[in-house]
Amino acid sequence: MTLLNGLTRMSGATGGSGETLAIRGGRPLRGRVDVKGAKNLVTKAMVAALLGETPSILRDVPGISDVAVVRSLLEVHGVRVTDGDEEGTFHLDPSDVESAHMEEIDAHAGASRIPILFCGPLLHRLGQAFIPDLGGCRIGDRPIDFHLDALRKFGAAVEKLPSGIRLSAPSGLRGANIHLPYPSVGATEQVLLTAVRAEGVTELRNAAIEPEIMDLIAVLQKMGAIISYEPNRVILIEGVDRLFGYEHRAVFDRNEAASWASAALATDGEIFVGGARQPEMLTFLNVLRKVGGDFEIREDGILFRRGGDLKPVTVETDVHPGFMTDWQQPLIVALTQAHGESVVHETVYENRFGFTSALVKMGADIVVHPHGLQDGPRRVPRRNLEQAAVITGPTPLVGADITVPDLRGGYSHVIAALTATGASTVHNVGIISRGYEKFFSKLTALGADFDVLD
Ligand code: EPZ
Repeated sequence: MTLLNGLTRMSGATGGSGETLAIRGGRPLRGRVDVKGAKNLVTKAMVAALLGETPSILRDVPGISDVAVVRSLLEVHGVRVTDGDEEGTFHLDPSDVESAHMEEIDAHAGASRIPILFCGPLLHRLGQAFIPDLGGCRIGDRPIDFHLDALRKFGAAVEKLPSGIRLSAPSGLRGANIHLPYPSVGATEQVLLTAVRAEGVTELRNAAIEPEIMDLIAVLQKMGAIISYEPNRVILIEGVDRLFGYEHRAVFDRNEAASWASAALATDGEIFVGGARQPEMLTFLNVLRKVGGDFEIREDGILFRRGGDLKPVTVETDVHPGFMTDWQQPLIVALTQAHGESVVHETVYENRFGFTSALVKMGADIVVHPHGLQDGPRRVPRRNLEQAAVITGPTPLVGADITVPDLRGGYSHVIAALTATGASTVHNVGIISRGYEKFFSKLTALGADFDVLD
């Protein structure tokens, strides 16, 4: 299957396709891991290469399956993707882009959400696009209404098919005024990748401003785009006629860095994360300090460890610069070891506490409140985005037989098994390779005691 080929083809691919781990927990994780480019930037920068008339070079590309999926999708559309000399470097040549056949795209879409971002670039290049139904982690219903509304505002015709959506824009795309109902990362990227070549100016309001978004803006500016980032989440894009290839080193993966930091706290270890930088992690570092974690900022990365007994906190996930929703799952494993009652409010996704059931099975005291903790007016005036988890610690965790539900939840399951005393069997770990490069070899480097079972 192409996805697997994509993985084997990627140099330094993740820890194989092993689906089950036998873990013997109770040992602190100690040592160094290095994070590469951010999964949630690299995949979008690869799509941006489609917009250029000349080849692009992208550095610090992680060997993860989400990247392999986008690589296959680009190749199906005629983009030549070759490995550069330095590990994790892609050369992307879009000179011969042509439309792929629907069944080919479907076969390559994998469990990814990135295909939706091909709309704008393909409409500019080919005047049409077919996007298969999206995959991605089951952490909510993951609608794409903001994306489709924006594309229609640019002048695209959008047709819903049983297996996906077909788009066309025979008379080209025009700049638009778009006000997002919510600072959606994906919808912001959709607008950026479409507006840069649209005719006229696009004003995007209530935009997402995550570091990965700002890095995508940097990539597009290198290509010739004119994008200005105004106060109060306003982004102005002046469409240009031609864009060219870029050369870019991706911003580091702060989600992976935060995951390993939480692992150091949970296992009472000490982990140096090479490549991690303080500015993009300020909010995380504040929460880490409140939990009783300790960190040391160095030139080439950040050292994470406990600073004593862990303390309970109340955290609410939010858009940047708030506490990222992707950070709460690994942190909750550490909070099971904190002395007292912690509360985590999840306000970005509807169902992102599913992973906690496995932690409870291991002995954690976690209660999920699907409709939040307090009555009265909703804090988040959208769908039922009020879930809260109350974690009471410290509770000893004992090894168990558990199955990984999604990417970040899966990472947390493995860390919980490494924190627990005794043996655990963790199934479906292959999903972790979607976002964590060389996951198994990193665990080994940190002294984890486990076997990969097929
Ligand atoms: C991106 O997802 C990331 N994925 C997610 O990381 C991350 O959690 C999320 O941004 C928030 O930071 C990638 O970049 C590939 P959104 P995205 O659009 O773009 C709702 C990981 O583990 N919404 O900001 O899909 C949506 O349902 C992943 O690396 C609509 O209602 O996130 C959600 O409730 C998980 N309609 C909220 O907005 C839309 O059209 C935030 O979604 C689009 C989104």
